[in-house]
Amino acid sequence: MASYTLKLRRYSPESGDPAFWQEYKVDLDGHRSVLDGILQAKDREDGSIGIRCSCRAAICGSCGVKINGRPGLACHMHLEEAQRRADQNGGVITVEPMGNMPVLKDLIVDMDAVHWKKVQRVTPWLIPEGEHPEREYIVAKEAMVDVTQSMACIQCGACVSDCLSMEVDPLFVGPAALAKAYRFVGDPRDGQQFERLRDLSEDPHGIYDCTHCFNCIEACPKGVAPMSQIMRLRRIAGSDHGIDDRNNGHRHEKAFVDNIEKNGLLHEADLLPDSYGGKFHPRAVPELLASLPVALKGLRRGKITPKKALLHAHKASKDVKRIFERVHDQEKRYELNLYVSGKDEDLPGGEEMQDEQGTEAHGTPASSSAERSPNQA
Ligand code: SF4
Ligand code: SF4
Ligand code: FES
Repeated sequence: MASYTLKLRRYSPESGDPAFWQEYKVDLDGHRSVLDGILQAKDREDGSIGIRCSCRAAICGSCGVKINGRPGLACHMHLEEAQRRADQNGGVITVEPMGNMPVLKDLIVDMDAVHWKKVQRVTPWLIPEGEHPEREYIVAKEAMVDVTQSMACIQCGACVSDCLSMEVDPLFVGPAALAKAYRFVGDPRDGQQFERLRDLSEDPHGIYDCTHCFNCIEACPKGVAPMSQIMRLRRIAGSDHGIDDRNNGHRHEKAFVDNIEKNGLLHEADLLPDSYGGKFHPRAVPELLASLPVALKGLRRGKITPKKALLHAHKASKDVKRIFERVHDQEKRYELNLYVSGKDEDLPGGEEMQDEQGTEAHGTPASSSAERSPNQA
């Protein structure tokens, strides 16, 4: 049996005292979880430690905390692994409450105030259209492959805890709720795909508020990859439904891609005006004027030169052009699903793609709204 030191962040809002750190020694085998360690400390030393848990098997999503500064499930992290990570950074396993949510007590955060409120925001249930079938809806297996990943979410809030956009904009709908939104947007039984996407595109705190920081992908203990689900929402909203949102999110994405296709390397000076329809578009003028102070500061500090701003030395290489040609030549957009493993021949309708290096990727053609029907079988 090994001995571990757990350093827990303690806080009791009612006491009026500031938060503080407290260390506990626990004796457990290294393969036992950090949650087991916390429960032993609570049981043997200090019954006042606040921790929420239930299943102790990474299923219920109750025990989200930050271990050594990273969000995750306390029951899903072995003590020996937590210690190995702590050794790289001070030697003591630290456990603190998740971020972006108010602390109720010690390691317990208020999931209702943030996480569940945001999940409710995306109407987390199916809204079928038309006549209900006499018995159940029959859905083809391949139609569900694409939503399986978002269905794996256990609502632990680890992704919310580390979302950089939410830190800056607490109103951002956020990774967990948007992954949940994709679960219904991607479901062929739902009849509100367009309405859901228009709503989340037009919301200034919606799908275009994500900054692609990848934190939610790293944080998620279930491989849901919320950022990938957000990108899927964007692709369906922008490419399939042509929703040009008032936040300019879709136009900005398109301008970004066109810029790389033309230049190979991003030409920043063109990105802003192109995102608003070009240098002389009425929408672009106020944005360009607003960016003048920053541009002047850059000029003064030598970060921007008139030559660099007006001319861009780079042109897309043949390799970059070839990538774009391949994408443009595809008749349908493919959504790669790296979550469901297995062979494509098992999936009716699933197709196999191979890149030039012979690497296999598995995907299903993205279903467009025109192909969907509420009772699709
Ligand atoms: S990728 Fe987007 S949703 Fe995910 S944590 Fe970063 S900002 Fe938040
Ligand atoms: S997406 Fe992952 S990290 Fe976020 S709430 Fe669901 S299971 Fe937890
Ligand atoms: S106690 Fe259920 S996920 Fe950890």
